[in-house]
Amino acid sequence: MSLSSSPTAQAQDSVLTFERVGFGYPGRAIISDISFEVRRGELLALMGGSGVGKTTLLRLIAGLLSPGIGSIRAFGEPVDARRQDRLYAQRKRMGLLFQFGALFTDLSCLDNVAFPLREHSGLPEDLIRDIALLKLEAVGLRGAADLMPSQISGGMARRVALARAIALDPELILYDEPFAGLDPISLGVTARLIQRLNRALGASAIIVTHDIQETFAIADRVIVLAPTPVGAEIRASGTPKDLMASEDPYVQQFLHGHEHGPVSFHHPAAPLADLFGGA
Ligand SMILES: Nc1ncnc2c1ncn2[C@@H]1O[C@H](COP(=O)(O)OP(=O)(O)OP(=O)(O)O)[C@@H](O)[C@H]1O
Ligand SMILES: [Mg+2]
Repeated sequence: MSLSSSPTAQAQDSVLTFERVGFGYPGRAIISDISFEVRRGELLALMGGSGVGKTTLLRLIAGLLSPGIGSIRAFGEPVDARRQDRLYAQRKRMGLLFQFGALFTDLSCLDNVAFPLREHSGLPEDLIRDIALLKLEAVGLRGAADLMPSQISGGMARRVALARAIALDPELILYDEPFAGLDPISLGVTARLIQRLNRALGASAIIVTHDIQETFAIADRVIVLAPTPVGAEIRASGTPKDLMASEDPYVQQFLHGHEHGPVSFHHPAAPLADLFGGA
């Protein structure tokens, strides 16, 4: 038996595990029975229709929400909001780039990137400044260090947020729609940047995105979530190539953006006739 297939080696190799995780709000199931694993160095894409529960899943990983059922482990230990010290230590090892994660408008680009270092690292100020500059250099924006967020474009702001997310050399980076609103060139540049950062840091990452082409070019593995009456479940999981070859109608519709198929465009609602009092 090779070492890599032994249970211990697998456990050491695993940065994140979801085991039969379910979560809902009162009266509303969001995700159901989700199990998956992220290995060290792996880039996992998480896809699925709007409102299916992708951001919720990232919030569960970061311990901002607690699963109603099942267990989540990060870096070999349970993610548990009741264990604040441990959760804090786990979060220090994660980089978060949230969907609407804005920069602090009253801080320069450099100070935005330095912020997590000042909060968590305990390093001296001159070293913090050097690290923040290096991170800005990594996203091609060292020259914008002293600019305020209002002085840079939206795409540049996204890259500064990226530099901030990797400030503490995270082992697991969670990207929620890092490409939203970027033009096709910036999108390609950002995708390759994410891949490069991952390799340079030896980090794992989960990318939530709707940009299939760019994501499939960089992802090692893809998970597609689909809604069910009891909450979203994993509908398909595999390499980008596996998914492209999938014959599942949901996966097909999702990947090719067809209007008609099992994916519903409408949020569940009462029939319009009810709203207007019938015919
Ligand atoms: N605080 C809340 N209370 C009740 N329902 C909520 C709450 N927050 C989110 N939801 C619901 O949870 C579901 C999943 O939301 P989530 O933000 O995870 O979706 P998403 O897959 O990230 O969608 P998008 O692609 O549009 O960002 C949505 O239907 C949303 O309405
Ligand atoms: Mg979302």
